[in-house]
Amino acid sequence: MMKIYLCGSLDAVALNEWQRHLQAEMPEDQVLTTLEPEQNAEISVAVVANPTPGSLYPLPSLRLIQSLWAGVDRLVADTTLPPGVPVCRMVDPQMNVAMAETGQWAVLALHRGFFGYARQQAKAQWQPLAQRRADELRVLVLGWGQMGRTLGLRLNAMGYRVAAWRSRAAATAQPQQVDGVEMHIGTEALGAALGQADILVNLLPLTPSTRGLLNASCFAALPRGASVVNLARGAHLVEADLLAALDAGQLSHAVLDVFNTEPLPASHPFWQHPAITVLPHAAAQTDPRSAAAVVAANVRALKAGEPLMHQVDFTLGY
Ligand code: GLV
Repeated sequence: MMKIYLCGSLDAVALNEWQRHLQAEMPEDQVLTTLEPEQNAEISVAVVANPTPGSLYPLPSLRLIQSLWAGVDRLVADTTLPPGVPVCRMVDPQMNVAMAETGQWAVLALHRGFFGYARQQAKAQWQPLAQRRADELRVLVLGWGQMGRTLGLRLNAMGYRVAAWRSRAAATAQPQQVDGVEMHIGTEALGAALGQADILVNLLPLTPSTRGLLNASCFAALPRGASVVNLARGAHLVEADLLAALDAGQLSHAVLDVFNTEPLPASHPFWQHPAITVLPHAAAQTDPRSAAAVVAANVRALKAGEPLMHQVDFTLGY
């Protein structure tokens, strides 16, 4: 029997739901959501949803930190994590699908001008826009992880011309084309990839090398009138550069799910900007119904001394 501590930025209802699903998947273990100080040393596994830095510091016997979030930038930056304890990302197939659905919606809406029609409706304007074919649009997906890949393949099936960029090659050499998606690898390849992208979708992990990547020089490298979709982290985007690029007409629209400050403050200019669509960090939520089994599989691996799944590489930052 292992004692598992569940904590993080979850409200009481969500905490309860997670506890119920996790406990059902791990009936032999005990899932706790509150700890008395004398219980700290009994906790072997922490299951965390974007926890406040420092929250795992009092737990001296941890053997696994399992994130319920796919993005672990905040965890990796927590200097109080017990050293040497493996951290694992959440890779939930349902979450990949949800993220791909959001990406597909954004690309389709940009392609067919649906954000423009929403603006027109607000002014009771009846004005059909020019219609383009999907194969006239080039979409560049930044990041070829679980989510980038799921989205890229779906966009390809929808008829778009899809390219993807990743910062480094996978262990096995990457072919130029992966299932019809053109691959660009490495920093030197980014400029050329951007130059051919009508729609840019960001699904990169946030690391020191990707922070601020969506900046003025990135926007300048895109063809004039391109659109940007940020579904990854707010800190990928330099907000002032986005506003400047939209106002100058270099970019035509941005769909943003993530922000430097969340919730996005009511006074933030993004809310009222006619060329920005704001989502409340809802592109893909971890689904307890599928993700609890992912956690349980890693806890079983830990008990059996087998390799953990989706372990974070601290040198890469994800
Ligand atoms: C959400 O943003 C996540 O990383 O799971």
